[in-house]
Amino acid sequence: KRVQLDTLGLQKFVATNELTEIAPMVTTARDLLVKGTGVEAHMGDWINLPTDYDHVEFDRIKDAARQIQDDSDVLIVIGIGGSYLGAKMALDFLHGSFFNLEGTEKHPQIFFAGNTISPTYTADLIRTIGDRDFSINVISKSGTTTEPAMAFRIFREKLIEKYGEAEANRRTYVTTDAQKGALHSEAVDKGFTSFVIPDGVGGRYSVLTPVGLLPIAASGIDIDALMGGAAEAQRELKAADVEDNDALLYAAYRNILYRKGYTNEILESYEPHLRFLAEWWKQLAGESEGKDHKGIYPSSAIFSTDLHSLGQYIQEGMRNLMETVVEIKQPASNLGIPTLDENLDGLQYLEQTSMDAVNKTAREAVVLAHTNGGVPNMLIQIEDNSAETLGYLIYFFEFAIATSGYLNGINPFNQPGVEDYKQNMFALLGKPGYEELRQSIQEQDQK
Ligand code: PA5
Repeated sequence: KRVQLDTLGLQKFVATNELTEIAPMVTTARDLLVKGTGVEAHMGDWINLPTDYDHVEFDRIKDAARQIQDDSDVLIVIGIGGSYLGAKMALDFLHGSFFNLEGTEKHPQIFFAGNTISPTYTADLIRTIGDRDFSINVISKSGTTTEPAMAFRIFREKLIEKYGEAEANRRTYVTTDAQKGALHSEAVDKGFTSFVIPDGVGGRYSVLTPVGLLPIAASGIDIDALMGGAAEAQRELKAADVEDNDALLYAAYRNILYRKGYTNEILESYEPHLRFLAEWWKQLAGESEGKDHKGIYPSSAIFSTDLHSLGQYIQEGMRNLMETVVEIKQPASNLGIPTLDENLDGLQYLEQTSMDAVNKTAREAVVLAHTNGGVPNMLIQIEDNSAETLGYLIYFFEFAIATSGYLNGINPFNQPGVEDYKQNMFALLGKPGYEELRQSIQEQDQK
């Protein structure tokens, strides 16, 4: 299997009967998802996406990616939340940490905008593009989210300044709803190349739709391989029996632990290029599960870096933490430890080993220390950092987290809490239609 769950680090924390006892509930939650009988089940179309997608649209994505590679040194991807994190995760996971610093002969540099309102970040990015050729891919399912809408205005203006209206329109790629939203209307009006986010797939479950696929394909990745890996997961994770299905096992164990007071989960990796895998996972888990005043709080750490900061807290702080480590069995690269005649740095004992072996030993040592310190540990081992394995892993997490949400009695497909700040922001900025809320906020302030 490309993705496997190892639960050795749970031995001190979970007894065998606990899994047996929660298993029927996990299977029921899984059935709600797979049979489409759970709450808001119409948002579960991502379940069949790896084998049931629009092939014509898929070919159009490849054409657009080729066009961008041909005529652009830089691609600016504008989006936030589920319209951003999946592509960023994939680029880092598949290309490594320094992708954008490599030459741009085969693929454009890819930068993200519209996930911040920082003028400094935006101006820095404009300066980074400089005089080079660029295109824009603006992504928003609703088509009305403020952050990407503002960034879109700014980068469209730059595009028009540089190329004139007609060429700017040709260099604008839109990914949005099929029928509704401001972005959809603008795309139709201006004739932008546009791609559809299927109705039954929410933002954080959308990386395998044009949302993620266009930037990923533009970076030179084989998106057939990515979908192939996800299809493999779709086949293998069908098993209804918890013991035969690692995604269900993961959902089961994190819920057993949650119910015992381990309310915070840290997703960790010893590979810096998996940092955005954790960011994507945090959105998937946090927005899917954190509601009705319950849910596991998802956080992340990159080791060794964070062993020298958060490591102290994890070892000896409040005992409400669980850890899940994602480890790549065959990393993209391995290096030997250089041999020296002298042993001034005391590292001679490592000369016969490799960096990856030391990295994996560090992981073993940390799991031992943390479990002894009272932190339950799960290990997700993935085969390699290929597109197939990423496709599998994406599906694995989506399936596990959606199941986990149903298991905890919440709706894993909405995110009502994200709306509150937006309403307040609109009111404070004076958006027409928000006068009453503005007044009530002002009255609240005066008290
Ligand atoms: O998971 C979600 O649905 C959200 O995080 C959205 O992806 C995010 O709010 C961006 O929304 P939109 O794509 O409509 O601009």
